[in-house]
Amino acid sequence: MTSDSTSGVPSVLGTPLTDSAIRVLLLGAGELGKEVTIAFQRLGVEVIAVDRYPDAPGHQVAHHAEVIDMTDAAAVTAVIEKYRPDFVVPEIEAIATDALGEIEARGIAQIVPSAFGVTATMNRERVRRLADEQLGIPVPPYLFADSHAELRTAAARVGYPCVVKPIMSSSGKGQTVLAGPADIDAAWENATTKARVANSRVIVEGFVDFDYEVTLLTVRSIDPRTGGIITQFCAPIGHRQVDGDYVESWQPQPMGSFAMASATSIAARITGAMADGQELGGRGVFGVELFVKGDDVYFSEVSPRPHDTGLVTMASQRLSEFEMHARAILGLPVEVTLASPGASAVIYGGRDETAVGFANVAQALAVPETSIRLFGKPNATSRRRMGVVTATADDVATARRRATDAAARIQVVSAGEPTTEVIDPARVTASVADETVVLNLRQTATQ
Ligand SMILES: Nc1ncnc2c1ncn2[C@@H]1O[C@H](COP(=O)(O)OP(=O)(O)O)[C@@H](O)[C@H]1O
Ligand SMILES: [Mg+2]
Repeated sequence: MTSDSTSGVPSVLGTPLTDSAIRVLLLGAGELGKEVTIAFQRLGVEVIAVDRYPDAPGHQVAHHAEVIDMTDAAAVTAVIEKYRPDFVVPEIEAIATDALGEIEARGIAQIVPSAFGVTATMNRERVRRLADEQLGIPVPPYLFADSHAELRTAAARVGYPCVVKPIMSSSGKGQTVLAGPADIDAAWENATTKARVANSRVIVEGFVDFDYEVTLLTVRSIDPRTGGIITQFCAPIGHRQVDGDYVESWQPQPMGSFAMASATSIAARITGAMADGQELGGRGVFGVELFVKGDDVYFSEVSPRPHDTGLVTMASQRLSEFEMHARAILGLPVEVTLASPGASAVIYGGRDETAVGFANVAQALAVPETSIRLFGKPNATSRRRMGVVTATADDVATARRRATDAAARIQVVSAGEPTTEVIDPARVTASVADETVVLNLRQTATQ
């Protein structure tokens, strides 16, 4: 890579598969990694996609595909040494972060946004203490517990209702909402058996009865006017979670001006900490998760990478969160312009299936202003995210109806078998002719 010698920002974009290539190694090649890969590919960057199983979504669009256990530090180090990438971009949380710290310290590759940022954000305790104790950011009340007995005491002190989560977990895994002391046993069992890493430490958080929650996509990139870092905020993304997993998101989520000012202040401070003191460091997209109640805003957590609820930006923004991430990493200018109100709705597997097919795609795309992404995962389970529908409209309510309606039409089937539930073509025609009639008939989710 030809680069600015002090900051590691490339001054020339090369050609993939040649000596001049800029190389990016993605740790995690799921649906988000696949889109990041495509964004880099469009800029002529050579991409190495790494995941724990073959033919992961990102493997299918990258220049090189590797399968390793990403929690094994030696394996992570070996794959980075094999390719000597300019940038290592973690796309998931479950990574041997010790290896990343060492790679960064040895100057082998830049870790995005920084080894510190990746390490701190995968651990609820570290990020919570950073936000609360070091940065003075408002968070829900919290305590930690290492045993069943400590959990009982901690929950009583935090107060009910409260939420118990393993300190290392994602997508709602191992998380329980407790109404009272009777729920302690189940919460402890859930947290200690479903955590991502064998660890019995949990966080107990006061349950925030929020009006709504948002992801504030925050981008740290180089400002072409000054050559320094600029922090920009996308329009807030509203979302709906079921069992700790996102099912639907939309942009923009309206926010009052006081709440918005708090949200941007929180996001600027927490993402600023991700630079870890490195010059022009900590570049990229961050998903800052916030709970909003009236004018009060509470920080929940931050992803140092594009966020699943941000899939909506593929439809709603001029640059998707994946394109913004690629640009920011490469030191290129980023804009956060909203192009249209938009929404996204997840397509779940809905069943266990090893030969995955999708039926009724034509009927889904007959809903106006919709697009679909089918991730290409080799097998389905009922709660596995297999695809997403995005939609635009003149207003968010219509975009949400369009996205959820189209996603509901898709059916995961066994590939090769004829589908049993084919939508009546007459209804599809009606849908194109008069969308609202069909939408009302289906009684899809409302705002
Ligand atoms: N303290 C809380 N109060 C109210 N809702 C919460 C709280 N913590 C989590 N939730 C709900 O659960 C979802 C997932 O929790 P989160 O902490 O983001 O876990 P994960 O890391 O699995 O995404 C949140 O988006 C929110 O809807
Ligand atoms: Mg979350």
